[in-house]
Amino acid sequence: MPRQQIRSPKPNVDLTAVFREIEQLPESLSSQTMFGNDLPLEIEVGSGKGLFMATESAAHPKHNFLGVEIIGKYASHAAGRLRKAGVTNAIMISGNAEPLFEKKIAAESLEAVHVYFPDPWWKKKHRKRRVVNTTSVQNFSKALRVGGRFHFWTDVLDYFEQTIELIAEIAPEFGVPIPEEEVEATHDLDYRTHFERRSIQQHIPVYRVRYEKRSAQPTVPKATT
Ligand SMILES: C[S@@+](CC[C@H](N)C(=O)[O-])C[C@H]1O[C@@H](n2cnc3c(N)ncnc32)[C@H](O)[C@@H]1O
Repeated sequence: MPRQQIRSPKPNVDLTAVFREIEQLPESLSSQTMFGNDLPLEIEVGSGKGLFMATESAAHPKHNFLGVEIIGKYASHAAGRLRKAGVTNAIMISGNAEPLFEKKIAAESLEAVHVYFPDPWWKKKHRKRRVVNTTSVQNFSKALRVGGRFHFWTDVLDYFEQTIELIAEIAPEFGVPIPEEEVEATHDLDYRTHFERRSIQQHIPVYRVRYEKRSAQPTVPKATT
């Protein structure tokens, strides 16, 4: 489904506190380097318009939140939402999440990783572009502390099933999938994300799961020859 036009924040709105380009990031991403404190850090991959980032950071002031969004216009729109919400524990990053997990996030440093309604990439030949894939699952697992959470919601059954199978196969340390329930909305923005709202309003089934990492990621033995 085509996405709606998105409004950029007005040029006079100061996003300094809630928005970073990749080039502005420190070598390592942590609560200390991004927020100057040691609160647990959660990361959302593909924040879109930033509804989750704004509501969740307001609801959990004792956690920090980083949202990573590859489309610049959406990243700045989401940052505008954080600014409007007045939260000080959330920052939007404009860029690709994959290299950040590869290079900038220390092992066992995250409290949670959130992926909501990632682009489905329906065609088989495009499946490798999916945000949840072998590499990212391994990266998420490495980045999460033991006890940390991975939330994955989608309205694409095939994506959901493949992710469950993939995790069982390559990341058993994640443990069993824990279903997450739909919460009935009490107002127009009372959804986890805009895509959840769209799916529910159009009566499209949503598949929601959470994992809680139960042990350290097994280390791959080094080849001896
Ligand atoms: C279908 S939208 C869902 C947005 C939001 N999570 C929601 O549920 O409303 C998926 C989002 O992921 C973003 N995205 C895709 N690949 C990404 C990547 N590698 N890094 C960061 N964001 C990505 C897209 O630009 C898009 O905004």
